[in-house]
Amino acid sequence: MAGATACEQDVFTPELLGSIERELERHVDAAAYSPNLLAAVRHALLGGGKRLRPLLSVRCAEAVGGVERDALSAGAAVEMVHAFSLVHDDLPALDNDLVRRGRPTVHVAFGEAMAILAGDALLALAFQAASATPRHADAVVRSVASATAQMINGQVLDTLGGHAPELSALGRLQAIHTQKTGALIRCACTIGASAGGAKPTQLEAITNWGETIGLMFQAVDDLLDVTQSAEHVGKAVGKDQDAGKMTYPAVLGVDATRTEIERLRCDAVNSLSAFGSSADPLRLLTEYLAGRTR
Ligand code: IPE
Ligand code: IPE
Ligand code: MG
Ligand code: MG
Ligand code: MG
Repeated sequence: MAGATACEQDVFTPELLGSIERELERHVDAAAYSPNLLAAVRHALLGGGKRLRPLLSVRCAEAVGGVERDALSAGAAVEMVHAFSLVHDDLPALDNDLVRRGRPTVHVAFGEAMAILAGDALLALAFQAASATPRHADAVVRSVASATAQMINGQVLDTLGGHAPELSALGRLQAIHTQKTGALIRCACTIGASAGGAKPTQLEAITNWGETIGLMFQAVDDLLDVTQSAEHVGKAVGKDQDAGKMTYPAVLGVDATRTEIERLRCDAVNSLSAFGSSADPLRLLTEYLAGRTR
């Protein structure tokens, strides 16, 4: 991979990305969808995206002594909830976006009714995948259910409001971000560790790491919305401000957003202090996620 970072070479390996893609395909192929629904679900789920969440599940399983196959279906489940959240997030009633992953959004390609239903289908498929986890499937299903509920609550706060009146602007921002984005990222980490057989102290440390990188992930997404081009990120940019969204740059300004990302990066690295080299991929991921540009 020319110009690839250490993280891309050692963590986002083509082998693991291939396994993740095959796992997603396997679950989609097993569903008895009519051809039009299948096409919309495939468009939403396959052939695009960084695959961060399933990758986190597998790397967290490995960090606690597990192996790839322990966490693949659990990671696929979170990726399906994520894909569902994006299809609905892009709908005219929410962010009204036309491009996602460099391609037309699902409602542009298949119509609004199909986009709503394809999102619903992905949500159901996610729970089938979660329940196929070889070990500790009950804990995985519970965690995916609770993170999905938080993601939806976060989307409501982001789109329609509903905050406790006493919350400060920063408190509101953190409530939105930890729920709409952080919850699924933290869940991807926790379920990977559970499925990999984590001890309670390992599970706690991985969950803390996941929570911190989850919040950092949306802070970086907010920054990219004001610093990157649409071609580079594969989705519209510069829309958060026009839509009056509560984002890190809107509340703190761009410089303080960068400082906050650096603080979260340090916190995340510190939460891995009890781990040896098995957590090196998570350390590389922390650096990559703090500095990513897409
Ligand atoms: C985009 O997530 C939506 C947010 C939570 C900010 P990703 O940046 O992980 O999107 P894909 O999956 O790589 O397209
Ligand atoms: C999305 O946040 C969070 C979701 C739950 C989908 P954004 O609305 O900022 O994500 P993008 O920028 O459209 O990917
Ligand atoms: Mg949104
Ligand atoms: Mg959006
Ligand atoms: Mg965004």
